[in-house]
Amino acid sequence: MAERPVFPKDFLWGASTSAYQIEGAAEADGRAPSIWDSFCKLKGRVDNGESGDVACDHYHRMPEDVELMAELGLQAYRFSVSWPRVLPRGRGAPNEKGLDFYDRLIDRLLEKNIEPWLCLYHWDLPQALQDQGGWAVRDGAGWFADYAALCARRYGDRVKRWATFNEFSVFTLFGWAFGWGAPSIADRATHLKTIHHVNLAHGAGVDVLRALVPNASIGAVHSVQPMRPETDRPEDVEAAALFDEHWNRAFPDAQLLAYYPRRIAEAIEPYVQPGDMARIARPLDWFGLNHYAPVYGRKDDSLIWGFGFGSPPAGMKRTAIDWPYDPGCFRDTLIDLTRRYRLPIYVTENGYGTKAAEAPDAEGRVVDAERLAYLQAYIAAMAEAKARGADVRGYFVWSLLDNFEWGGGYGTRFGIVHVDFTTQARTPKESARWYSELIRGG
Ligand code: FCB
Repeated sequence: MAERPVFPKDFLWGASTSAYQIEGAAEADGRAPSIWDSFCKLKGRVDNGESGDVACDHYHRMPEDVELMAELGLQAYRFSVSWPRVLPRGRGAPNEKGLDFYDRLIDRLLEKNIEPWLCLYHWDLPQALQDQGGWAVRDGAGWFADYAALCARRYGDRVKRWATFNEFSVFTLFGWAFGWGAPSIADRATHLKTIHHVNLAHGAGVDVLRALVPNASIGAVHSVQPMRPETDRPEDVEAAALFDEHWNRAFPDAQLLAYYPRRIAEAIEPYVQPGDMARIARPLDWFGLNHYAPVYGRKDDSLIWGFGFGSPPAGMKRTAIDWPYDPGCFRDTLIDLTRRYRLPIYVTENGYGTKAAEAPDAEGRVVDAERLAYLQAYIAAMAEAKARGADVRGYFVWSLLDNFEWGGGYGTRFGIVHVDFTTQARTPKESARWYSELIRGG
């Protein structure tokens, strides 16, 4: 086995999940639909017509899942709150039973000495708010601030680590520009408004958390996947440059440097009001990085912005779901982000997806050798980045459990713990055992 990289004692090791991907209980105790519940009902949009209706049934199995985290020795757990579970109409009257669920989760985590990392928005906008225009209306920022205040007042006595949003660029691009995710819109003006209003919501959320949560440590979670043009043809290079601004810059630059990157700045100007950049760029305590692989961009006129996904170079190593495998890119991203934004970095997601069934063998073992090798290589790359000056303070594997992988449904597995979706049995995979030993310093 590869030599174990050495991390300081206070380096934080955890796992991430998100509400819609694991909770299930879609109609339990007063929860109302989110835009993802609606999207899953559209024909042909999610593999096998699946949805998060049941998912890992974590809503009912939470105590068992926290027990599992404790057995693995996790030090931190990043989860998200389902906005339509705690505020079924998106605003107004809260749902006490929904709020209770997260009280119980947080209390259990603390009992087991696992630090709760609460993310307010992991893509499940209440459908009731989408019906009023969603992020395309400027009021969205206020709706989000009120929701943040509800959570801050309720959980802020126990939760100190807060993230506003998960992967701003991915959900806005896929949902509002490509039309491949909820709410399935593909319109330039709507997409630009959405970018700006989500940035404003982030800033307003930070202010609320700062005011209401004593000693809060606040960040935001960005997907940063370095963009490479598929070819050196000028049209691919230019398309990839715009794609890069959208994917990697539009949100962190606005939030941490108070400006939009050049090409987006011009287009978004009609929606920016005086004072907005200061409203967006509120001081933060850490940078949440979700990283999987570099993206190859190319000219693609079938999509609204004229850029799209190209192919990695022939012969490049890939994962089982065809994502490029490039630990060096992870190392360089950590170093670059430290220089650019000058914040401590927590890797809030990284992991390995496969379409293989990964079912337990006769001895009940799930041998996920490829995931294990991926985690070893990426964690070693993180150690190298740290040695070269990257200010990385913690790592959360995606994901604790196999779960509802958005458009990929249940056929794509990212968990270090196997879930049998018929019986809901959980079985830690070999990667989980290795991760657990790494955390325990074994
Ligand atoms: C990220 C998402 C997460 C999960 C992983 C595989 O983009 O934040 O919910 O789907 O990808």
